[in-house]
This record gives sequence, structure tokens and C-alpha cells, in this order.
Amino acid sequence: MMEIAKVRQDFPILFQTVNDEPLIYLDNAATTQKPKQVISAIENYYAHDNANVHRGVHTLSERATKQYEEARETVRAFINAASTKEVLFTRGTTTSLNWVAQGFGDQVVEEGDEIYVTALEHHSNLVPWQQLAKRKQARLVYLPLTEEGSVDVAASQ
Ligand SMILES: Cc1ncc(COP(=O)(O)O)c(C=O)c1O
Repeated sequence: MMEIAKVRQDFPILFQTVNDEPLIYLDNAATTQKPKQVISAIENYYAHDNANVHRGVHTLSERATKQYEEARETVRAFINAASTKEVLFTRGTTTSLNWVAQGFGDQVVEEGDEIYVTALEHHSNLVPWQQLAKRKQARLVYLPLTEEGSVDVAASQ
């Protein structure tokens, strides 16, 4: 089991009180806090290696490219992807979901298909599917929630 107190030690930003209470931060989908290992890797990168990735032949550029690709491999192993070619870095969720809807969605969705979303979606996971449905003349179906707050998959039958 994850030891929360131990994990908290990795996040310097949590070493403060807000409104006289220890800070608890849950807005990770909007902006995720960084553990000290990440802060130190970023500082080290900007202090020693920062350069254009895949677009230079000098030493710093080669170092930056190597680290960038090593990060891609770390992510690949973490999500168990078959190839690093499946790992794309974007600036955030909205961009990623637009790419999925336009890349994957445009290939597989046809006129008359149904696209299911839930009543819980953030705008970033709603607008791309609305636009896809419009482009393809598909139907966007909103799954409701049960009394317990779960997605009511049975409502789609
Ligand atoms: C719950 C939730 N989902 C998705 C997003 C979109 O994230 P991004 O800013 O990375 O596009 C946000 C942004 O605030 C969010 O709060």
C-alpha cells in the first residue's frame, strides 16, 4: 500500500499551511505539483543541458535529445507501450484529447455511429467529441450517473 506520509515528503510545496491547515492539494488535472526529484531534474537540465531537441548537432543539443528520448522510454515502460513511437508529449490534456479525437476518431467513426461520453466530462473531454460527432454526423450520447455517483453504463442499452 502507498505510504501517504512518505510520498508527501517528496513534495516541497506541501510543507506549508494554508488557512492554518496542512496543505492538501487535489487539483492535479489542472496543474500537478512536482516532487523534489522532478524539480531537481528540471533545475539540472536548465543549468547544464538546455538546448534544441532533435534540431541541433552540438553537444548540448545531443545531451538534451538523449534525455528527452530517455524520458520517452521511461514513460513507455511505465504504460507498457510496445514502442516509444506510441509516446507523444503534448502541452496538456486538451491538446492530447483533440489529437485522439482527430487522429483515431476521424479514422474509426462513421456516419450514424454513437460516441459515448459521461455527464462528468471536463470541457477538454467533451468539445473534441462534439466536434467529431458533427464532422462525421455521428450521435453524441451522454451517459447519466447513478444515485451512487457512478457512470450508469446500463443506460446505454
Ligand atoms: C478536470 C480537468 N480536466 C482537464 C483539464 C484540461 O487540462 P489542460 O489544461 O492540460 O488542457 C483541466 C484543466 O484545468 C481540468 O481541471
